[in-house]
This record gives sequence, C-alpha cells and structure tokens, in this order.
Amino acid sequence: MASESNIVADALNRIQPSPTIAVTQKARELKAQGVDVIGLGAGEPDFDTPDNIKQAAIDAIQRGETKYTAVDGIPELKQAICAKFKRDNDLDYKPSQVTVAPGGKPIIYNAMVATLNPGDEVVIPSPYWVSYPDMVLLAGGTPVIAEATIETNFKLTAEALDAAITPKTKWLIFNHPSNPSGAAYTRDELKKLTDVLVQHPQVWILTDDMYEHLVYDDFDFWTPAQVEPALYDRTLTMNGVSKAYAMTGWRIGYAAGPEVLIKAMGKVQSQSTSNPTSISQWAAVEALNGPQDFMKERCDVFKGRRDLVVSMLNQATGIDCPTPEGAFYVYPSCAGCIGKKTPDGKVIETDGDFAAALLDAEAVAVVHGEAFGLSPHFRISYATSTEALTEACERIQRFCASLT
Ligand SMILES: Cc1ncc(COP(=O)(O)O)c(C=O)c1O
Repeated sequence: MASESNIVADALNRIQPSPTIAVTQKARELKAQGVDVIGLGAGEPDFDTPDNIKQAAIDAIQRGETKYTAVDGIPELKQAICAKFKRDNDLDYKPSQVTVAPGGKPIIYNAMVATLNPGDEVVIPSPYWVSYPDMVLLAGGTPVIAEATIETNFKLTAEALDAAITPKTKWLIFNHPSNPSGAAYTRDELKKLTDVLVQHPQVWILTDDMYEHLVYDDFDFWTPAQVEPALYDRTLTMNGVSKAYAMTGWRIGYAAGPEVLIKAMGKVQSQSTSNPTSISQWAAVEALNGPQDFMKERCDVFKGRRDLVVSMLNQATGIDCPTPEGAFYVYPSCAGCIGKKTPDGKVIETDGDFAAALLDAEAVAVVHGEAFGLSPHFRISYATSTEALTEACERIQRFCASLT
C-alpha cells in the first residue's frame, strides 16, 4: 500500500543533500528576509559568460540547432574537446574516446553507475568535493577516505594513497586544483602518486580537472595521464566549461578515456538524461575553440582576492589559512576557536557550530569542513566581489575576536 513512509528508496538514506547548496539556499532566504548576509558558499564564478560564447548559442538557436543530438555529444564538440586535450594537456584522444554530459557532475555519476559493483571501493582523498562519496554510495560502491591534512597543504601523500588501496579498489577519484582546499599538485608531487598507482593495476583513475585554468603565481598544471603515460589506459580525464568559462548554468561537462568506459557511460546517459542541451553544446564548441585570453585577466582578479582573503583570515584570532595554488576557495582551520564561547554563551564544539554561530552573529555564510571530510575547517569561496570579501573578512575577524 502506498504511504509516505515507503516512497523513498533505501539508497537515498545513505546520502546527504548537498551541504553547499543548503548553505547557499539559507543565505538566499536570509537575504529575502532583509538580513545583510554575505554568502561565501557558492562555488561559481561571479563573472559572466563571455559574449562570443553567448553569441554562439544565439546563432545555434537561429540555425535551428534545437533538436535531439547524439546522446553523448555532437561531433563538432567532441572534436573541440580532442583539440583542447592536445593543446592544454598534450594528451591524444580520438572523438570515440570522448563523452559529453549535462555538467561535470553527471560525468562522474555516469562513470560510477557504469562501473561499480557492490563491494567495489573508491578511494577519495579528503578534504573532498562533497558529491564524490555520495555519488559512489548511490551507485552502490563503498567510499574509502584517504586523509590529506593542513600539514601537507591538503595534498595526499604517496603513503596515504598506498595505505587506502586494497584488492577491491576500483577507482581513485582525484581532483586538483581542489574543491574545497584550492590545493594543486606540482608535476613532482603528482609523479609520487602516479608511481603508487602504477603498482596497483586494478585501480582506475578519475581525475577531475574542472579548475585546471584557475591557477595562480605561474603554477604549471599537470594531469595524471600526462605525468604517467602508463596510466592512460585506465584514466578518465574529466573537465568542463562551468568554472573556466563561467558557464555553470549551461550544464556541459566532458571526459576522455578508454573506449570501453566511454561507451558504458554513454549507455547510462542514453537511459537517463539523453543528450546535453543542443544549444549549450554549440556554446561549448565556441568556448573551447574561441579566444582563451580572457582567462588570464580573470585569474589575475581571483589571485588578488585570494591574497586579500588569506591575509585577512590569518589576522583573525584562532584562524590558520594556508595559501592555495588554485580554484577559488580557501580552507582555513578554525582549530583555535574550538572550545571557545560566543558572547551569548554558546560553546563552539565543531566547525558546524563555528559556521552556524558566524551566520547568526555576523551574517556571513561559509560551509563547515565536516561536509568536505576534514575538520575543524571551513570553506570560503572567494568568487565574489572584493568589497564583499573585505567586509566578510572584517566580520569574521570581529566574530573571532568576540569569542572567549
Ligand atoms: C571539483 C568539482 N567537480 C565537478 C563539479 C561540477 O561541475 P558542474 O557544475 O559542471 O556539474 C564541481 C562544481 O562545483 C566541482 O567543484
């Protein structure tokens, strides 16, 4: 008999709704109530999609590119993706090795659903992007967390990776520059990890390179299959237009890897979303093939904001904020605030308490570290105006100073 208590699948009880979306929503609600809230939770650039990309979408509509397309992407986009991988990563892929999905998220989801059997383990370094463990759980696999701490600037060590791998490990989900820490690996640091992976032939690598172009101080980005060609046959190199081209709403992500995997992922997509939006695909062709120089300007702005936020947070009592290499996040420790009391007598026991009290007292919305699997920390997205960041950091300084 139908009832409210049996409608939801057991699998859903294993996962959490996205905490970053929850924080953004809470900030939106407070704003609607008239509170002067500063939201530092959202993971999207505050810049607009460049005009040439918008125009390509308008042209596609005018041409009537408004019908179903090939399930995993139009040939023109697959070609542009192959050219991108060659240009930026010196990786050779054929169009038959490429898949396109409605965002980076469904790329990962398709890969997990297409490959995981019950009991399969997926190694995920923490702090991790919130969706990885939950996607693995939804697909019936078992996440195994390999911790990277502030002592190594949030970078996974070869020892920690090796210790997390078992005969049941099917995937490592790797991400750099990292959401939430901003950490990015040098070629040498990556080589230490790929050396470990070479020793474990049962492990596939999903590398999430979404923030590839958002690196600062002349940082040189490398991706695992480029560092270690021996891993090419078991690596899914994933990327997308959301962050680099400020196209979060257009919903286009892509990946390249061995044909057998790409075909399996296409099969999942053929029975779920079908093709990504035709118009967005044409916009992505222009994003990848068109001028790339606007990114440098935007990176300079992001770098300025990163430096501002790191400096101001390190002046807050009880906060320790390392300088990350990329993305648009910082992941400070609030260990120095744990155990202290707010002026109205609340004890801060966890990073969740810290974030909640900060929102209450100063109307600054950040995401607590527990959501990303490493506490006590919090994540700030600095993809917002310099004025808002300055004001937010002043409020954080005031909040930390008020704790006793
Ligand atoms: C590390 C990482 N991977 C993937 C995604 C998902 O990107 P998309 O919006 O294209 O689905 C995000 C978005 O926040 C991300 O931070």
